[in-house]
Amino acid sequence: MKKVGFIGLGNMGLPMSTGLINAGYHVVGYDLNEEAARSFKKAGGEIAASIAQVAEKSELILTSLPSVKAVEEVFLGEEGLVNNVKPEQPLIDTSTVSPDLNVVIAKVCRENSLDFLAAPVSGGVIGAVNQTLTVMVGGPKQLYEQVLPVFQVLGENIFHVDEQIDSGTTVKLINNLLIGFYTAGVSEALQLANKKKLDLDELFSMLNVSYGQSRIYERNYNSFIAKENYNPGFSLKLLRKDLEFAMELADENQLDLPISKSLLALYRTVEREGYGDQDMAVLYEQVKKQSNKKEATQ
Ligand SMILES: NC(=O)c1ccc[n+]([C@@H]2O[C@H](COP(=O)([O-])OP(=O)(O)OC[C@H]3O[C@@H](n4cnc5c(N)ncnc54)[C@H](O)[C@@H]3O)[C@@H](O)[C@H]2O)c1
Repeated sequence: MKKVGFIGLGNMGLPMSTGLINAGYHVVGYDLNEEAARSFKKAGGEIAASIAQVAEKSELILTSLPSVKAVEEVFLGEEGLVNNVKPEQPLIDTSTVSPDLNVVIAKVCRENSLDFLAAPVSGGVIGAVNQTLTVMVGGPKQLYEQVLPVFQVLGENIFHVDEQIDSGTTVKLINNLLIGFYTAGVSEALQLANKKKLDLDELFSMLNVSYGQSRIYERNYNSFIAKENYNPGFSLKLLRKDLEFAMELADENQLDLPISKSLLALYRTVEREGYGDQDMAVLYEQVKKQSNKKEATQ
């Protein structure tokens, strides 16, 4: 398959589609945002004016979209994929959405004799740029094997979780629950270092070879906190969305996860305070403000 469609050319979609272009695929892209579309064109992609045009020109279509609403619109909307693709054009959603939405889309696709995989990814923008993403795929194994060469361009670690369409999403939500914990942990732990006037770079080199080490500490500290630049990356509101899906999954399975619940409440508060569009690492700045405020009132 050398002609690929790509819908959603944002922080993840742009580098993922660029990786495909660099690997020799002809990629036809679509995004509501003109700036995203322009960057994609600059990377060597062909811009389509509609989802129908993407469908017309591609053998397989990938999506990377920010919300349940966007995924519903792109797949199930009147002008969407289901009404425009043919049975021989597989659809692959790499967005992180609710497991329920994976199930609904798979059902509609089945009713229309269309092939669909839910394949969320992990590894962030850096992983997308370096083509080292982890891909967690749920859905028919035979279809997974057919489209594997495309996944192998996007990432290094490709897993077929099982035939259940939402199985990859379940793994991804567990992953992002851990990301939520680590991001909050780094944000609070570093405040102690600030109070004790420790050099944060030196602290990082020590903890990075100790049990306090984590990939999220490394990512959040080196790419954002140390640079005092919170341009995403992975926006805080997207992490909040994933924590909500994880909590819904816990509720549906009669699981009480009190620490995770407080974590979600924390991210919701920080988003309400206007940090939603910044990288999730910005939680560090908010925790810093809050902990210092507390001290001022004592
Ligand atoms: N950013 C990360 O580090 C990261 C990592 C892994 C997974 N994800 C997941 O990947 C998905 C995309 O994340 P992102 O960070 O690239 O988000 P983003 O907001 O940067 O990009 C989403 C793009 O989709 C476009 N879009 C929205 N609605 C559309 C529609 N109806 N039709 C066409 N285009 C539309 C937007 O204009 C935007 O360019 C999300 O589900 C996210 O949870 C993100």
